[in-house]
Amino acid sequence: MERQERKSGILNAPLLSLLKAGEWATEQEIARSTGLAGLRLERELKSLRRFGFAIESAGSGFRLAGAPDAFFPDELTYALDTAVIGRNIVVLERVSSTNDAAWELAGNGAADGLVVLAEEQTHGRGRMGRSWFSPRGGLWMSIVLIPGQPAERATAITMAASVAVARAIRTFPGCDASIRWPNDILIDGRKVAGVMVETGSSRSLHGTFILGIGVDVNCTEFPREIEPLATALAVHAGGKIRPADLARLIIRFLDELYSQIVRGEHAAIGDEWLALSSTVGQRITIMRNGRTYRGEVVDMDPVAGLMVRLDSGFVRAFKGEHVTVVK
Ligand code: BTN
Repeated sequence: MERQERKSGILNAPLLSLLKAGEWATEQEIARSTGLAGLRLERELKSLRRFGFAIESAGSGFRLAGAPDAFFPDELTYALDTAVIGRNIVVLERVSSTNDAAWELAGNGAADGLVVLAEEQTHGRGRMGRSWFSPRGGLWMSIVLIPGQPAERATAITMAASVAVARAIRTFPGCDASIRWPNDILIDGRKVAGVMVETGSSRSLHGTFILGIGVDVNCTEFPREIEPLATALAVHAGGKIRPADLARLIIRFLDELYSQIVRGEHAAIGDEWLALSSTVGQRITIMRNGRTYRGEVVDMDPVAGLMVRLDSGFVRAFKGEHVTVVK
C-alpha cells in the first residue's frame, strides 16, 4: 500500500500548545511551562517554523500567527485526554485510503480507538463503492473500533460518528451542520462530510469496525460531477479552518459517545441525532435490494435503524448500510 508516515517526536508539543493558547507568550512564561530557553528554545522555534507554523516575535515574546493544514501526531496526542479514541494516532502524509491503512493496522493487532489520519488520499472510498475526493486541505480519518459487541452496533456507530462530526462542525461560527440519513453531514443543503462504517469479514477481524470520516475543510474546488452538491467548511466559516483543530474536536466527542455505545446506552445518541437530523418528518424514497419504498420518516433507532411509515401505513425499519435515498 502506498503510504508515507509522519513520525512522532519531530516537534515540541508543549511549546506549540502554549503558543496556541494565548496571544503573546513571554520568554519567562515559555521557560516556566516548557523548560525551554536560549538556544534550545531557538532550535524548537526554528523547527516549528520549518513545519509551516508562522511564529512572530516582538520584544521578548512570541505569538502564533498561522499554522499549516498538516497533522502532527505529537500535537494531537498532547492535546487529547480521551479514554479510548485517539490514544494512538498514525499520521500519513499520503495514502491510498485511510480505511485500507486502518484495516491493515487492525490486522496487525491495533488497539481499540487507533486513529489514522491522512493529509491526502489517492484512492479515497465512499459508500456503495463510490470514490471519495480527498485532496490536501481536508480531514480524512479512519478509526479502528473493537467495541466487544455484536455486529448490529454498526448503526449506532454511524449515528455516533454523525453526531460527533455535526457537533464539531457546529462549534465554528457560520457552520450550521445537520445530518441527512444515513451518513451525510450537510451545510445549507450541500454535503460537507460523510461517514461510513465497514465491518470485519475475516474470522480474526470479526467484531472489528473501521469508521471512516471525511470532511471537506479547506478544499473549495470540486470535480464537476460533485460541484453542485458539495461544499467546504471554509466557505461557511468565512476563512480557512485548521483540519487538526476539527480532528481534535471530533475525536473528543466521539470518545464520549463511543463509551456510551460500549455500555449499551443509546438513548442520548438517538436524541441528539434526531435534534441534528434534517431527515425526520420528511417524505423519503429508499432503494433497497432493487425494491423501492416510499413513506414518511417517523423516528431513528440506534439499533434498528431509520423508522419509516410506508404509504401502506406499515412502519418499517431500514439500516443505512445497503440503501440509497432517492430525492
Ligand atoms: C460517504 O459519504 O460515502 C462516506 C465517505 C467516507 C470518506 C472517508 S475519508 C477517510 C476514510 N477513508 C476512505 O477511503 N474513506 C473514508
